Amino acid sequence: MKIVLLGAAGGIGQALGLILKTQLPAGSDLSLYDIAPVTPGVAVDLSHIPTAVKVNGFAGEDPSPALENADIVLISAGVARKPGMDRSDLFNINAGIVKNLVSVCADTCPKALIGIITNPVNTTVAIAAEVLKQKGVYDPARLFGITTLDIIRSNTFVAEAKGVNPEDVDVPVIGGHSGVTILPLLSQSGFEFTDEEIALMTTRIQNAGTEVVEAKAGGGSATLSMGQAAARFGLSLVRALNGEDNVVECTYIEGPGDKARFFAQPVLLGKNGVEKVLDYGTLTTFEESTLNNALDILRGDIAKGESFI
Ligand code: NAD
Ligand code: LMR
Repeated sequence: MKIVLLGAAGGIGQALGLILKTQLPAGSDLSLYDIAPVTPGVAVDLSHIPTAVKVNGFAGEDPSPALENADIVLISAGVARKPGMDRSDLFNINAGIVKNLVSVCADTCPKALIGIITNPVNTTVAIAAEVLKQKGVYDPARLFGITTLDIIRSNTFVAEAKGVNPEDVDVPVIGGHSGVTILPLLSQSGFEFTDEEIALMTTRIQNAGTEVVEAKAGGGSATLSMGQAAARFGLSLVRALNGEDNVVECTYIEGPGDKARFFAQPVLLGKNGVEKVLDYGTLTTFEESTLNNALDILRGDIAKGESFI
């Protein structure tokens, strides 16, 4: 199994590389690529950790040597928010970066599963899909927007509120990955909340990225929690590719399209990526109206990515 990180020298990339070096199955290859010249050094650094995971690092203009024979590609290359910015403010720089990197993936490893972390995820996934389509290699089952950070945050905040172990909480989060498009299904968390608690908790989860951006005060956005979230998602892909049953994650994919062309919801992962898009169950009146209020924004974000290509 070969896992490639694009943007590997960045805040997320380094945290993710560290977790994968310690948690990938023995015999895996971890390939790091970033335009930053330090990247081969990051690989040497990681390679001194005593696990049976081989690490290689590549820098420079051409990502293709890193991508050869990739099974999974996780992309966090791009710029992050500063206070006062919205995720959509990253579009001008990140859209081109994702377009170019996915184009090289299409040429070098067209069958790889691709997970997009780079913001604005609602839009960059649509860009990736259109690039793959133009190259004639698009398979919706193999392209994912990684929204796992919204799930782990929801689990943490619910556990704090209820005084339980966060590892025992599992909140599905559907929709997209920005502001009101993030919809945690607290009604499916297994815990009771008042209407007021649900409204407050939903808003906190929707604004949690901004909470980190403001706390870092110009030093970037979530990197360590995102490293953990991307590692969880990446390791789920590895387990599914290795034939494990019942690997389920919420992720932003092109599914049935009844709400929007791309939509985050639970999916069963298998050897070819998305094996089955799962039903996200019955929504409460609050969840239904929150979702309906977000759909125009989500569809607009997607259309922006489609028209960019
Ligand atoms: P960072 O600035 O620390 O790292 C980004 C890295 O990308 C840098 O090392 C940079 O050299 C590299 N890079 C830039 N252009 C590149 C290119 N063309 N090819 C290869 N590498 C390139 O930023 P970060 O904190 O790691 O965040 C990265 C992205 O992830 C941002 O867009 C951020 O908004 C997003 N993010 C997404 C989520 C999510 O939940 N999906 C969570 C947090 C952050
Ligand atoms: C997050 O949710 O933390 C990320 O999308 C980064 C951001 O800009 O908020």
